[in-house]
Amino acid sequence: MGVAKKILVIPGDGIGQEVTAWGQKVLSAIAENFKHEFTFEEGIMGHVAIEATGNPLPDETLEKARKSDAILFGAIGHAKYDNDPTLKVRPEQGLLKIRKELGLYANLRPIKLFDELLEASSIKPEILRGSDILFFRELTGDVYFGEKNRTADRNTASDLMIYHRYEVERIARKAYEAARTRRSKVCSVDKANVLEASRLWREVVQEVAKEYPDVETEHMFIDNAAMQLIKDPKRFDVVVTGNLFGDILTDEASQIAGSMGMLASASIGDSTGFYEPIHGSAHDIAGKGLANPLASILSAALMLDISFGLKMESQRVIKAVEATLRQGYRTMDIANKHTENALIMGTDAMGGKVLENLN
Ligand code: IPM
Ligand code: MG
Repeated sequence: MGVAKKILVIPGDGIGQEVTAWGQKVLSAIAENFKHEFTFEEGIMGHVAIEATGNPLPDETLEKARKSDAILFGAIGHAKYDNDPTLKVRPEQGLLKIRKELGLYANLRPIKLFDELLEASSIKPEILRGSDILFFRELTGDVYFGEKNRTADRNTASDLMIYHRYEVERIARKAYEAARTRRSKVCSVDKANVLEASRLWREVVQEVAKEYPDVETEHMFIDNAAMQLIKDPKRFDVVVTGNLFGDILTDEASQIAGSMGMLASASIGDSTGFYEPIHGSAHDIAGKGLANPLASILSAALMLDISFGLKMESQRVIKAVEATLRQGYRTMDIANKHTENALIMGTDAMGGKVLENLN
């Protein structure tokens, strides 16, 4: 018997529009092949929503989100705002608000290198081979949501880095549970030598660690972690860290998977799961049909697995991506000097190859 699920699709800004279409097509194909019934609705968020309604996250989108079983999101942001820090209404506010409103406190970012892409990274293949890291980035706390201030003379500004015990505890538990299904190692990343918020973080992780004596725990400072990640990525299994450190480390870690265009993420918490590529809106290539659709497709695979418990279907998607790479097809971002020109393709051709491999 198939399952019936309601999926909200929010393409968002820039290349989000192009790549999310492929995540959705892959979900449709899976529904058809496995006799599930997926119904899709669309919502707006980000710059496109500001243009249409003045609000980066219209109430209507949030309502649809609450009623859906899972959300497939594209990307957010526009160069116009990046170059003008004085603008008060900003696309990113939409993304932060939906994370908070839906209680999406755990952001899972799996970093796994497809063997076919060993040459795509700027890191040496012998360092990369066999890397497999699962990041748990806390997503609804930290400086992202602490109080922000700007003095009346506009010359001084602050963002409060704040964590509560329960916030650290729940993300740490998720990380330890996941480690048990993997290589049983957790590395907690903080800056406890300087920051009080990090000392609380470390204290709480140490307590949670006692409940998981079968899992090996390591604590690492963020500066060291940033270095170790490039020096010896294989030493990591599960990494758990705060919102800001996690944001930065996972962009760095994307090089371990060859390209930002490959990385999917799942944000989970109290209810509806939210799935998105970790890459941004990439306005420099938006609208040109050049973006890599694989991160959106792999985000769809995460949705099938985590929100719907459809492991076989999820594996089928990952295998189709693998097969496509094995056949030699590449988007620009994952091609290298040895790739034949005929095999370098745009978003739609690449997505089409994955669909063919699904059937
Ligand atoms: C991410 C992005 C977002 C973040 C931005 C767009 C607000 O960089 O999801 O990693 O900082 O969380
Ligand atoms: Mg980021």
